[in-house]
This record gives sequence, structure tokens and C-alpha cells, in this order.
Amino acid sequence: MAINTELIKAHGAAIKGLGTQVTSYFYDYMFSHFPEVRKMFPETMTTQKERLFNSLVYISTNIDNPAALVPYLERLGEGHIKYDTRPEQYDAVGVSLMKTLEHFLGSAWTPEVSATWSEAYNLAAKVMTEAAARSMDPARYKPLSQDGTPVR
Ligand code: HEM
Repeated sequence: MAINTELIKAHGAAIKGLGTQVTSYFYDYMFSHFPEVRKMFPETMTTQKERLFNSLVYISTNIDNPAALVPYLERLGEGHIKYDTRPEQYDAVGVSLMKTLEHFLGSAWTPEVSATWSEAYNLAAKVMTEAAARSMDPARYKPLSQDGTPVR
């Protein structure tokens, strides 16, 4: 099934209007259902809630703009290496995101809506995890010379 980009964009606009209560709900859900990931995040989550909020709005409103979205997701995925994020942890984020959307969309959350969001999330997670895997590939590792510059 093709992703319904108009729907995802409309929901991106709705999320923008709701503000960071969306990401507050998301983290409350994730930390209570997947407590093992709590320790990866800072004690105070205010900044992180804003960052994820901006990211969610950006991804959903650019869902039909791969020229902007793919490089953004690749950079985001590579950036997650430093947090020691594992591919299997994307399930916890995906489930928590679906539950959050269901909560805020209420009766608009139908099986079709759920399917299209699931597909969009899985695609975003795939771009992020594949970019992270590529940049961790030992074949791309460049040892440093004595002055700290990469050896070609
Ligand atoms: C589509 C999925 C995801 C999106 C859109 C996303 C988005 C973000 C954004 C925008 C940031 C802010 C910092 C940055 O730009 O690097 C961030 C940080 C972070 N993310 Fe993700 N993320 C995703 C998946 C995950 C997963 C699966 C995990 C693992 C549980 C994770 C763990 C973290 C952690 C630990 C931080 C740093 C918190 C801090 O120290 O301030 N993220 N994420």
C-alpha cells in the first residue's frame, strides 16, 4: 500500500497545533511500557520533548519531499549512533508513536490511518538505521595518522 502522504501531512499540521503535549504523552507512554530505554535519556526531558516535537512535525510535513527528508533522516540516524541506539529499539519508538497518535486523533484513528502511519514510520526507521549501519561499516573506518588527520 502506498503511503497516504496527504493524510500524514495533515496530521503533521495537527501535531504542530497541539504542541509538545504530544511528545510528553509519547515519552510517558514509552517510559512506562519500555522502561529499559529510560536510562538512555536525560533526567530532565524538556529539551528532548521539543526536539522530538520539531522532528515529528518536520518529518510528517515533508513526507512527500524525499529530497529534503532522506538526507535529514540519514543524518538523524547517524546522529543516533552516539546514543547507542539499536535497530530493535525502533519498535519501542514505533509502538509508542502509534499509541500517541491514536490518543490525539481519537475517532480519526482508523485501521487505514494506522496502516499508513505504520508504513511511514517503518520507512523512516529503515532510512535511519541503514544510514547508521553504513557509517559504522568497518570498511569505511579511516584510521587516524599521528597528527590526527584520517589516513587515506
Ligand atoms: C524515527 C525514529 C526517531 C526519531 C524521529 C528520533 C528523533 C530524535 C531527535 C530529533 C533527537 C534530538 C537530538 C538529535 O537530533 O540527535 C533525538 C535524540 C535521542 N534519541 Fe531519538 N529518534 C528516533 C528514534 C530513536 C530510538 C529508536 C531511540 C532508542 C530508544 C532513540 C533515542 C534517542 C536518545 C537517547 C536521544 C538523546 C537524548 C539526549 O541525550 O538528549 N531515538 N531523537
